[in-house]
Amino acid sequence: MCGIVGYTGAREANPILIDGLKKLEYRGYDSAGVALHRDGCLVINKAAGSVADLEKKLGDQFNKVTVGIGHTRWATHGRPTDINAHPHCSCDNKIAVVHNGIIENHQSLRQWLADEAGHSFRSETDTEVMAHLIEEYYEDDLLEAVRKAVKRVEGSYAMVVIAAGEPDHLVCVRQDSPLIIGLGEGENFVASDIPALLAHTRRTKILEDGEFASITADRVEISDRDGKVVEREILEITWDLEAAEKGGYEHFMLKEIMEQPVAVKETMRQRIDPSTGQVDLSELGFTEAELSSLEKIFIVACGTAYHAGLLGKAIIEKVAGVEVEVDVASEFRYREPIFEKNQLAIVISQSGETADTLAALRLARRNGLKVLAITNVVGSSVSREADRVFYTWAGPEIAVASTKAYLTQLVALYLLTIYIGKARRSIDPELAGELVKNLMDLPGNLKKILSEESLSRLSSYCNHLSQWESAFFVGRNLDYPVAMEGALKLKEISYIHAEAYAAGELKHGPLALIVEGIPVIALVTQKAVSEKILGNIQEVKARGGAVFAITQEGFDDVSRQVDSVFYLPAVNDILAPVLSAVPTQLIAYYAAVARGSSVDKPRNLAKSVTVE
Ligand code: F6R
Repeated sequence: MCGIVGYTGAREANPILIDGLKKLEYRGYDSAGVALHRDGCLVINKAAGSVADLEKKLGDQFNKVTVGIGHTRWATHGRPTDINAHPHCSCDNKIAVVHNGIIENHQSLRQWLADEAGHSFRSETDTEVMAHLIEEYYEDDLLEAVRKAVKRVEGSYAMVVIAAGEPDHLVCVRQDSPLIIGLGEGENFVASDIPALLAHTRRTKILEDGEFASITADRVEISDRDGKVVEREILEITWDLEAAEKGGYEHFMLKEIMEQPVAVKETMRQRIDPSTGQVDLSELGFTEAELSSLEKIFIVACGTAYHAGLLGKAIIEKVAGVEVEVDVASEFRYREPIFEKNQLAIVISQSGETADTLAALRLARRNGLKVLAITNVVGSSVSREADRVFYTWAGPEIAVASTKAYLTQLVALYLLTIYIGKARRSIDPELAGELVKNLMDLPGNLKKILSEESLSRLSSYCNHLSQWESAFFVGRNLDYPVAMEGALKLKEISYIHAEAYAAGELKHGPLALIVEGIPVIALVTQKAVSEKILGNIQEVKARGGAVFAITQEGFDDVSRQVDSVFYLPAVNDILAPVLSAVPTQLIAYYAAVARGSSVDKPRNLAKSVTVE
């Protein structure tokens, strides 16, 4: 995710900015840059590549400079190139901006600025419009210009701006993206994340949504949208650097699980119109005729992304009425699938670099299919080679075990299903409306599942689970892929051998392994088969299995028939898998913690599998 650092004071700014950017490297980035005040001008240095490369490039040519801003960019709008790196400048190079977040209406603003106000743009980024917009309003008062510019902006932003005419002044604004002011003696700092500040100060003020900050070496003033000054308490940071990188959580995996409400919200942003409830994926460039004539979709992926694909198949067939085949990429590339016209391939890959998935993409394209990639990384190999790309905006995932990327892949597949269903007129409009409503409620419902109380319940359940060397996950219908993903996650980080079964299969073999007390996690969210799975649960209970059920509020029979139960907020059954995945992630997490495993870097595994 992008990182911001700013400094104003009496010390050399350059090493402070570079050091701060290095402290934010763990968040992932693809380019870096700084803007420094020198002799009444702004000097910009930026490039694709590492902060170390930028540091070398800067050398000691800016020794006397004491004010500047820096940024690490993780590409969203526009590829990771030198020109797209931040800071971005106004036409006259007198305003420089660093920005985290997304300017949603950047296209219309860009058009207005270019056509009506004569601005010329250098980059493909959404951020650059801010530099020009601020230039448009600048009349020797940077704070006022930023205030006016922001009024025209929709989206999320943490922004720091400097102007050539205001030598020691940093202006900041935030909406839905963090920004923290660090207080020093005769110097002040700003950063998007605490690790960048810790070497210099532990005294901070946190900017809230809709607030601006005017920062000089001696003064910090926070104000609201109307310019009213806001008093903010000083927050003393007690975390060490490692804890700060993990946002105070013990592991990146838990941090990323907790980020899921935001990750799904970002993925839906601009793709659902809240006022009409319409899903708009015109960004993908499909025509209605193309979607209507689809006869088959191949979904190809590996590991967790493959499990997302299995759920994709279930919902696309059920809701949009198109036949779907799902393959593990390493099998697809060697199994000689039958390619015909009117077929589409969808590849799913968080990293966009998985070798087998890339090979599957190439195979499908060689055989004349259009390929849609669902990926989290702009500029990745998969995104460059696919015909169309659906970006999940989960932000970089650092823990090896995928959590927030998986959940956003599911959201992408639900949006796609509704969109295809609408184009083909195969989706029941009432169902479409209900699913969209459930999707919009998702961030709130995820927050409920991630409450302190749920975390402590799941953690205490895992004290029992972690004593065992094997466990089962069972589910039917849409719950089955969730069971598969739950088992993978548990194996991967706790090293407990976990198997997932379609619950109806138990009596065809695995029931032989059910012994007194063995943990069985049952997903029970599908009304159409709830009687059936409750029957399967009885088969397990009769042999001594200890059943932990994950179900929806309103499934009242479940609690009487199992040892313990975890309730999810009630939603349409079709959308329940997006919620039920979360307790399974937490079960894996707490079981791994209880067993003292290396949660974020499990043995023998890598985050990105770029070899066959
Ligand atoms: C498991 C996990 C892996 C990945 C798989 C594919 O938690 O993360 O199973 O899902 O290696 O990776 P991507 O999505 O990067 O292609």
